[in-house]
Amino acid sequence: MMTCAASHRPVRSFVRRSARMTPAQRAAIESRWPAYGIDAVGLLDLDAEFGRHAPTELEIGFGNGETLIALATAQPERNYLGVDVYEPGIGRLLAAIAASGLSNVRLLRGDAVDVLSEHIPPASLDGVLLLFPDPWPKKRHHKRRLVQADFVELVAARLAPGGRFTLATDWQNYAEQMLEVLGAQPSFLNLAGAGHFCAASSDRPVTKFERRGRRLGHRVWDLRFARR
Ligand SMILES: C[S@@+](CC[C@H](N)C(=O)[O-])C[C@H]1O[C@@H](n2cnc3c(N)ncnc32)[C@H](O)[C@@H]1O
Repeated sequence: MMTCAASHRPVRSFVRRSARMTPAQRAAIESRWPAYGIDAVGLLDLDAEFGRHAPTELEIGFGNGETLIALATAQPERNYLGVDVYEPGIGRLLAAIAASGLSNVRLLRGDAVDVLSEHIPPASLDGVLLLFPDPWPKKRHHKRRLVQADFVELVAARLAPGGRFTLATDWQNYAEQMLEVLGAQPSFLNLAGAGHFCAASSDRPVTKFERRGRRLGHRVWDLRFARR
């Protein structure tokens, strides 16, 4: 949760709308959340949640979840945590996890800022992915963007040394903000070289929002940082 200095009200990166769920998504939440969802209280024991010790990556804002499914399928030796606030996406992803038989995916619902601050232990993650976060294009809404100095410091604190922070966006102005904010955080090393974006996105799955952006003719900017 980011704090608005003037009013001390939290500035969230999302607006809660009453999301319409399909009956299948609702049924998946009811039947599958107990197996794959985490109702976190205090700091999580990741080994206990996954039933094994393995490198764990967190995807923030997984949307419909197809990236998480692709990553968890391609790398069964790694654990994948997802966090989002979007209930239909959570329902869809729970159904997909159950259908695929994957045992290396767990979900959290809520604001990633709260989840990182309250539930993810320090230096416990091997990777964090933030792919096509809500761009909040209007200048007066830029304060809602997730990638701000406080957030980046929080991500750095939850990554283990050597852990990767992978970001992508199709909004040039947000891409430049990401580069500037991450470049100013001394705990992160830009793997593309200081002040540079990554040349290609071939080491991560293409996402739903990315496909939509490309259909509209948008360019995509990728960033990769390592926790020092
Ligand atoms: C533009 S969508 C991108 C979804 C997906 N990553 C993709 O590329 O297709 C952004 C997602 O981030 C989620 N989101 C926004 N702010 C969030 C927050 N603070 N914590 C968790 N999820 C958040 C939204 O609910 C939405 O699913």
